[in-house]
Amino acid sequence: MGAGLVGRTVAQEVARRDYADVVIVDIVENLPQGIALDINEAGPVLGYEANVTGSNGYEETAGSDVVVITAGVPRKPGMSRDDLVTTNEKIVGSVTEQAVAQSLEATLIVVSNPLDAMCHVAKNVAGFPKQRVFGQAGILDTARFRTFIAWETGASGKDVQALVLGGHGDQMVSVVSAATIGGVPLTSLVGRDRIDELVERTAKGGGEVVELLGTSAWYAPGAATAQMVHAVMLDEKRVLPCTAYLEGEYGIDGLYMGVPVKLGAGGIEEIVELELTDDEQTMLNESADAVREVVGVLTT
Ligand code: NAI
Ligand code: 2OP
Repeated sequence: MGAGLVGRTVAQEVARRDYADVVIVDIVENLPQGIALDINEAGPVLGYEANVTGSNGYEETAGSDVVVITAGVPRKPGMSRDDLVTTNEKIVGSVTEQAVAQSLEATLIVVSNPLDAMCHVAKNVAGFPKQRVFGQAGILDTARFRTFIAWETGASGKDVQALVLGGHGDQMVSVVSAATIGGVPLTSLVGRDRIDELVERTAKGGGEVVELLGTSAWYAPGAATAQMVHAVMLDEKRVLPCTAYLEGEYGIDGLYMGVPVKLGAGGIEEIVELELTDDEQTMLNESADAVREVVGVLTT
């Protein structure tokens, strides 16, 4: 849902995996059709044969296994993700309602911002179990942290393991105690002051791109979302940071927050409870307070 920068990137990333057809829906006439045509025409070169369809309606999406919601407005310079809440609440509510009417068994992956609050909207409108409504943020935030750690240590980003939890806002929590490079703790390779700078850059990573481009990122968000689609479609049981509805886990109740989960055909099959340091738990609680404030503005 949404043929914008993130939606079209997810669509192509999924098409390239070559086991699922993709329908792109947008309200702008001709836009999803044009994007779909272009993605289909890249198939012979890139080696995929997925059917990609563009539509301004929802009929073509009937019986979808996974619905990805990227419809909405993105940030502009000077805006926080939370500034988008009122506009995107209406869009996400309307898109969710129309999409689930066609695909009652689908798994919903929310991307639109403010992400944590938009997950609440999608869950409330869809009425689906919490296992089948969740959001993308943690894979992106973690990928940013992994990139900065790789640059700092000169190691391959592929060998950097890290985890960013919490809300998808400036109070996200980089779990430094869980960051390792090829199994070696980050804290034994990089000084604490420098780690703090990497953590700060990660928390402001979305804004850094917005300042450069005038709009928010799409390649890394698209890749992160496609990884979640992949985990569900292939029942991979990947343990990935996703925005899940918490009911007591990490001491947080009734709120969507980024935590490690096991992702498979059943959606969120398990919430993985990691041991946090006292400081990390305090930061997670503060991040939860920030999310609660935005959720409090919702009318859905
Ligand atoms: P964009 O402006 O390029 O695309 C948004 C698309 O949504 C547009 O094509 C627009 O026509 C469409 N749209 C608006 N109302 C609609 C409706 N009622 N039905 C169907 N389509 C509708 O924006 P972009 O860059 O693709 O970002 C999309 C959203 O994702 C934004 O809210 C952005 O903040 C968020 N985002 C979230 C990330 C995350 O990690 N969770 C990362 C990057 C962006
Ligand atoms: C990002 O983190 C704005 O949520 C978007 O890039």
